[in-house]
Amino acid sequence: MLENVFLPNYEGKELSDQTFSWSVPSNIALVKYWGKRAVQIPENASVSFTLSNCKTITSLHYNSNKLTDSKFSFDIFVDDVWNKSFRAKIESFFEKAVPFLPFLTDGHFEIRTANTFPHSSGIASSASGMAALALCLMSCEKTCCPDLSEELFFKKASFLARLGSGSACRSIEGPLVAWGKHKDIPGSSDLFGTTLKASVCETFTNYQDTILIVEEGQKQVSSTLGHNLMHGHPFAQKRFEQAEHNVSDLLKVMIQGDMDQFIRIVESEALSLHAMMMTSNPAYVLMQPHTLSIIKAIWDFRKTTEVPLCFTLDAGANVHLLYPYEFKNEVLNFIEAELVVYCQNGRYICDATGVGAQQLKV
Ligand code: PMV
Repeated sequence: MLENVFLPNYEGKELSDQTFSWSVPSNIALVKYWGKRAVQIPENASVSFTLSNCKTITSLHYNSNKLTDSKFSFDIFVDDVWNKSFRAKIESFFEKAVPFLPFLTDGHFEIRTANTFPHSSGIASSASGMAALALCLMSCEKTCCPDLSEELFFKKASFLARLGSGSACRSIEGPLVAWGKHKDIPGSSDLFGTTLKASVCETFTNYQDTILIVEEGQKQVSSTLGHNLMHGHPFAQKRFEQAEHNVSDLLKVMIQGDMDQFIRIVESEALSLHAMMMTSNPAYVLMQPHTLSIIKAIWDFRKTTEVPLCFTLDAGANVHLLYPYEFKNEVLNFIEAELVVYCQNGRYICDATGVGAQQLKV
C-alpha cells in the first residue's frame, strides 16, 4: 500500500472548533525494531504486545483562530502545566504529518497530555503519546470526512503515529501487533502497524508484563541516536536477518503455544538489541548491574520451578517480566522475595496485554 491512500480528500471543508480525547497504551516489543531508514521506515519487521495500564491520555482542542504567525500554532500542557520541552518533537511531527493533515496549519491546537505511569519511571511515553496525538488528529479529520471507514481511520492513525515515533504505530490496537513488511504477515507494511488476527494460543491473549524499575529517569542515550548507530554497524545486516527469522518463528510458536520456544526467541531478541548497542561505534551499555542480577535470578527461578517466566528489555535498564496469567501469584511472590531489592526505590509496575486505544468522552 502506498502512502497516497492517506492523502486527505476533504477539499473545501473546514474544521470547526472542537475537542477530542483518547487514552492509548504503551507497547512492549517481542521482536525488536532497531535501525531505520528515512522517513521512519524500519530495517526489519517487529512484533509487540499492546499493554493496558501504562497509558497516555491526551485531549486536543482545535480552535480555528491561529494564535501565532508561525507555520504551526500549538500549546502543550503536561499534567496541566505548560510545557516547552516537547515543542521541538511536536513541531517536527507536524512537519512530517502536514501533507496528510493540511488543517495542521489552519488553526490553533491545545494539547493536554498525562501519563498513568510516572514520568520518572524510565518508561518511554513516546509510543503511547504519539499514538494518542495521532488519534486526536484523526478524530478532527473524521469531522470533515464522515464517510472515512473505521479501517482507514485506524490505519491512518497508525501511519501518522509512526511519523512521530516508529514504535508508536504499534500502540493503536492490540493485543499483538506487527510493523514492517514481512512475508508471513498478509497485509503487513513498513508504513503502519498490522493487528495480528492469526489464532494465537489462548495463553497469549492475557499475558502479564511486570516492569521492574531498575533505573528511574531519562535514558542516557536516545533511541534516535541508537537507531542512527545501526548505519554502518558491522553486525547490522545479520541483525536485520535474525529479526526477520524471529518474526516467522515467533508467530509459529505463538500459534502452537510452544512456551520454551517463545521464551528462547523473546530473550534472544532482548539480548540482541543490547548487543547491538554494546557493539556500536561509539559503544554504550544501557543495562545496569541490577539488570543482569535480575536476568540471572529469572533463569534460576525458571530452572527450579518450571514457571514459564521470561524477560525482555527496552532501550534501557528496566526489565519486563513476561508470563501467563495463571502464574501471577507465583511470579509476584518471587518478585517480592528476590527481585524487589534490585528495583530503584522498590518500584515495579504490573501491566498486562490489552486491546489498544479508547476514545474518551469530553
Ligand atoms: O520508536 P522508537 O524510535 O523509540 O524505537 C523503539 C525501539 C525499541 O523500543 C528499543 C524497540 C521496539 O521495537 O519498540
